[in-house]
Amino acid sequence: MGITPLTKDPSSIELTFPTMLGQEEFRQLGYYLIDRVARHLYQVRLRSPYRPVSEKTRQALELLPLPDNGVTAEEIVAFFEERIQPYPTFGTGHPRGFGWIAGGPDPMAVLGSLLAAALNPNCIGGDQSATYLDLAVLRWLKELVDFPTMGSAGLLLSGGTQATLVCLMAARHAAAVAAGWNPRTEGLQRYPTPLVLYASEQTHHCVAGAVEVLGLGQHLLRSIASTDDFQLDLAALHAAVRRDREDDLQPFCVVANAGTTNTGAIDPLAAIADFCEREGLWFHVDGSYGAFGRLDPRIASRYCGMERADSLTLDPHKWLSVPMSAAAPWCGTGSSSWRPSPFPRPTICAKRSGRSALPTIACNSPGDSTPSSCGWRSCLPVALAWWHLSACTTPWRGIWLN
Ligand SMILES: Cc1ncc(COP(=O)(O)O)c(C=O)c1O
Repeated sequence: MGITPLTKDPSSIELTFPTMLGQEEFRQLGYYLIDRVARHLYQVRLRSPYRPVSEKTRQALELLPLPDNGVTAEEIVAFFEERIQPYPTFGTGHPRGFGWIAGGPDPMAVLGSLLAAALNPNCIGGDQSATYLDLAVLRWLKELVDFPTMGSAGLLLSGGTQATLVCLMAARHAAAVAAGWNPRTEGLQRYPTPLVLYASEQTHHCVAGAVEVLGLGQHLLRSIASTDDFQLDLAALHAAVRRDREDDLQPFCVVANAGTTNTGAIDPLAAIADFCEREGLWFHVDGSYGAFGRLDPRIASRYCGMERADSLTLDPHKWLSVPMSAAAPWCGTGSSSWRPSPFPRPTICAKRSGRSALPTIACNSPGDSTPSSCGWRSCLPVALAWWHLSACTTPWRGIWLN
């Protein structure tokens, strides 16, 4: 069946779903807002790195009523300019805000966010460009930090916290399966041996959160002492694992840091990898904050061993200058029996024909394995920013040296 040619001038066609914004008004508003965004991004030095929210604005936002009647786009923009824009987060993007964890967004990435919102794909399946670009970006991320691209999988999620949850879920699954238990079907309600997880006291609190969500129990997360350099103390780790084995508990995972939140300390990754291998423990590396430091040749050697991780979290929205909540891939090697499909979904069928409603695709869709199915929101900003940076005369790896 051929495609019917358009009989109308495309620019005169309006949306078929209800919207208060006509096409021309949308364009005008968009041009205006792009000007504001440009000023925000390029004139950041003219602002103070941080401005606390005024009492009047705090109240206006907290008490903002759900509107009974819609207001005009101009009124919304005026509200944004008066109450929201003047109080951005702590110095993000400002030269004097560098100590804050999130970097300023690269302008190409900001445009990527706009495009992603407009195309609004759902990566739950189907033969769509979003899925393939998603997979390419995941591969880039692994290549950047020299993580094995073969036999590993990845997901784009909303941030390091969510990525940590998925990684530790994989760890829990691998440990239980090795002990003859299937947590996917049986849960952990009657799991015979308590599972124990180890992390240095410098570890980000998202690990404790994941332990809670996964039903492992906070008191079975061992907080291991750190050295004077804020690195995980290996002797303390060895002793804790030994003690737990003597108490008939089941040590299953060590979380190491490739850059702690407070000081940027990198744990002795190679030694921890050796230990995990000897002890049969899952080796997880939290690289959410600092893993991209590996791109700096001056400190790359400190990351030796990271490539041996069973799972690794990375956060491009921290040092790679893409918008917040832009991406947090998860990567796991194929060394365990766990495959990245924690959320199996039934095939979506067209009711009447009984055939699959979605065209099949030749590769694994990230949407098959992600709890959010909207990783692409992250992937387009990352892709655009990196294409652009690598097209610049200074190779973008050089940003670390400038
Ligand atoms: C080391 C580390 N891990 C995990 C996280 C959590 O990442 P997110 O805020 O993207 O959820 C952070 C955040 O700062 C972090 O510094």
